[in-house]
Amino acid sequence: MENNKQNGVIHVENLSFTYGNEMVLENLTLTVEKGETLVILGGSGAGKSTLLRLIIALIRQTRGKITVFDNDIAYLSERQLRPLRSRMGFVFQGGALFDSITVAENVGYALRINNPKISEPEFRKAVMEILEYVEMDEFYSAYPADLSGGQRKRIAIARATITHPEIILYDEPTSGLDPIVSKRINQLINRLRLEQNITSIVVTHILQDAFEVATRLVMLKNGRLVFEGQSDDLLLSKDPYVQQFVR
Ligand SMILES: Nc1ncnc2c1ncn2[C@@H]1O[C@H](COP(=O)(O)OP(=O)(O)OP(=O)(O)O)[C@@H](O)[C@H]1O
Ligand SMILES: [Mg+2]
Repeated sequence: MENNKQNGVIHVENLSFTYGNEMVLENLTLTVEKGETLVILGGSGAGKSTLLRLIIALIRQTRGKITVFDNDIAYLSERQLRPLRSRMGFVFQGGALFDSITVAENVGYALRINNPKISEPEFRKAVMEILEYVEMDEFYSAYPADLSGGQRKRIAIARATITHPEIILYDEPTSGLDPIVSKRINQLINRLRLEQNITSIVVTHILQDAFEVATRLVMLKNGRLVFEGQSDDLLLSKDPYVQQFVR
């Protein structure tokens, strides 16, 4: 129904999720608009990764509603989810590269899944283009074990962007990286927004990184939203938990 249509690329409404008896997310409502980078801040165990997993329907909500591109994902089967997921890229916490295959095969993984008959020149061209974008083209034939932490993250981002997604979800893209390498990752996230108008959610607990990429921020505490606004609002917040977090 037309008047039921939600604004935003991702819309989460009164979402709750429990693992067994543990309430991990509680009555969460938020919208991600096209072209914005929404940063989700929050301490360990706040429910940040769980929220991302719900949005890509790796797990299913206990209560409430999640729409992605106006599709209510609770009602979609795995097969119906596939075209939706192909419009999304994921950079998992820890990178999650396959260690036994080359950088090129990691990055081009989705190309081979989507088109098992893809020609080698076509594969190489597409992978090279993305590797050049993340300034990692010299590592085409290398293996993940040969890479530094920051390089692995860039490869994880390249893998997430090879299908030209409209949404990218990043789970702690700078964790374990030094500030200089983190800055490079943040610049890449910003380039993807500015040059390709990609809508992103970035989960992090590093304030500096949050401020570098966010067009808007929210903070989760024990599965509840305790803040929503801009960087300046966050610094000025009177909420005791937010204050603890930003000092
Ligand atoms: N597969 C699971 N089974 C049971 N409980 C889980 C599972 N995954 C996560 N949890 C619990 O859900 C809560 C939220 O976990 P989640 O991974 O979403 O937190 P997070 O905010 O991403 O934390 P971190 O910053 O440490 O990555 C935690 O209490 C965690 O123990
Ligand atoms: Mg997490």
